Amino acid sequence: MYQTLLTNLEDCILLITINRPDKMNALNKEVIDELDMAIEEVYEKAEIKSAIITGAGTTAFVAGADISEFLELKIEQAAGLARAGQSIFDKIENSPKPIVAAVNGFALGGGFELALACHFIYASENAKFGQPEVNLGLIPGYGGTQRLTQLVGRNMAMELIMSGNMIDAKEAREYGIVNKIIKQEELLTSAKAILGIIQTKAPVAVSKVIECINNFDHTQQGYDFEIKRFADCFATDDKKEGVSAFLEKRKANFTGK
Ligand code: COA
Repeated sequence: MYQTLLTNLEDCILLITINRPDKMNALNKEVIDELDMAIEEVYEKAEIKSAIITGAGTTAFVAGADISEFLELKIEQAAGLARAGQSIFDKIENSPKPIVAAVNGFALGGGFELALACHFIYASENAKFGQPEVNLGLIPGYGGTQRLTQLVGRNMAMELIMSGNMIDAKEAREYGIVNKIIKQEELLTSAKAILGIIQTKAPVAVSKVIECINNFDHTQQGYDFEIKRFADCFATDDKKEGVSAFLEKRKANFTGK
């Protein structure tokens, strides 16, 4: 169905593999468009409960936007490109179902930004992260200056983006970019295992967790946002089932309603 992606649905987890290994899985227009369609599937299809995004092969997750598309771009087209990229990355970030990045090698430029848009990141031991756009006379355009700053803080984001330096998986773990470092051959199994655990939880509650954390705000607004969603859970079948199951000392069987 897709030209640049491989997709596989197993145990309700949609594995999305960006499949341009000869170009380090760089994000050209076709990949962006197809990624949009694949994420749409995650939103729409009841049989999909969560997703993993990874890259084909063992060298690259995604080595950035496709640089070969940059040569002739004018200001307006460049703005359109960034807008399109940001729109799909926002869709990933705001997906009501969990999406994990399994970073299996280079995550550079748009590849790093893609991983940052996912709900969290598991990385293989050989993973490398960087925003090398300054080497090309550019800056990140798919949300990198915003999401990286939010995650690692102003000063580290300044250093990483201004220098274009790459960091390895261990450093990325230290900065809180990566949740877990795993052997390459066990990366997907590990990502599937954590999603397997999340999938046993109440889906509506999980979606509200994503909403609240994405709308993190240390002013009263953030707390009010949480109050509203906490209260909304009380109108769900899942809450009835979860609380009853606990009191009856049995396993909950959630319907996502
Ligand atoms: N866009 C387009 N093509 C890319 C690419 C990108 N972002 N990253 C890698 N490729 C292509 C290379 O052009 C090369 O294609 P070719 O075989 O047709 O010449 C192929 O992928 C392999 O890359 P190569 O550079 O030969 O591999 P390497 O192991 O020497 O280096 C990287 C790997 C990732 C360090 C290097 O490819 C790189 O720096 N890529 C660009 C990263 C970047 O600047 N990203 C931000 C873009 S905004």
